[in-house]
Amino acid sequence: MSGPAPVWDVINGYAAYWALHAAVELGVFENLPATSAELAAATGVHDPADVELLAQLLAAKGLLETDGERWSNSAAAERFLVPTSPASMVGLVRHSPGPKQAWPALAATLRAGHPAEPITDALNALYPALVAATAATQGAVARGVAAELRTRGLWDGTGLVVDLGCGSGAWLDGLVGDEATGIGVDLPHVLPAPRDRVTLIGGDYLDVDLPDRAASVVVLAHVLRAESAERAEALYRRAVDLLTDDGVLLVADYFRPPNGEKTETYADAVHDLTLALTMRASTPGRGLTEPTLAAWGAHTVAVVEPVPRQRVHLIKRGPS
Ligand SMILES: C[S@@+](CC[C@H](N)C(=O)[O-])C[C@H]1O[C@@H](n2cnc3c(N)ncnc32)[C@H](O)[C@@H]1O
Repeated sequence: MSGPAPVWDVINGYAAYWALHAAVELGVFENLPATSAELAAATGVHDPADVELLAQLLAAKGLLETDGERWSNSAAAERFLVPTSPASMVGLVRHSPGPKQAWPALAATLRAGHPAEPITDALNALYPALVAATAATQGAVARGVAAELRTRGLWDGTGLVVDLGCGSGAWLDGLVGDEATGIGVDLPHVLPAPRDRVTLIGGDYLDVDLPDRAASVVVLAHVLRAESAERAEALYRRAVDLLTDDGVLLVADYFRPPNGEKTETYADAVHDLTLALTMRASTPGRGLTEPTLAAWGAHTVAVVEPVPRQRVHLIKRGPS
């Protein structure tokens, strides 16, 4: 007879998320090593017994360790949960699930076929923080892709780079060197600070005026998964139309396993499926699959992964 562990695992996931959220909010990870009493004093927790309970749960989750007296960060927490670490994921802990109110409303969203207006508004309000949280990683991916393009003879670093949904500007920074120019498009309240050699345009990336067939590189990084099937395909086609004959379209995403099958590891499939459902909870999208790109006729010349789990399709116009 099977036991209830799989059900409890899911129920308890809710509490585990909020325990981590509270630990980040309290500043637990940057105040270690410490005893429970020291940690309570440093984080403003009223009763050391409470911070001890929180620490025990975080230890059970592999985020803290103890020698019986003092708490310290596990290797993962030291690298990813200390806010000053270059690899800090603190912003993602706060914002990766999207607007929090989307989750209790998920059944209603699925019934209606779209999220309620307040969730869409909340998501738009969240974008500046979300793109700031991912800027360092996306900058590293963009630099890696720029190197790949040169090595493969697909781009010489000149001409025009157009980034649709440019967010923090991390991709433009990674691609536009001294010899190229850039155009970044995003919602007006999300556009990044001005930078040299880059024109920033506020508006819907499906509507704004852009020069046709003029871009050496077009970037669609982490945008298609949040769009409806119709808008995603229209955006993909617009991106291809912006390319010169030799241009390259970069599609970066956390590709959803098409049939929910186990990919490299089960954990990866769960991660990608959860992200796709996160899209569904607060956007018209349900994630992007690689077969969808193929079905649109994408002429993918290579798939690169310059940073682990960051897949990027390098797409050429193909025969027209
Ligand atoms: C997940 S972020 C990705 C940002 C950036 N491409 C990156 O990879 O770091 C999605 C971006 O798309 C932008 N966006 C969403 N809807 C948009 C629209 N209709 N027109 C232009 N930008 C949009 C958001 O403001 C946000 O900056």
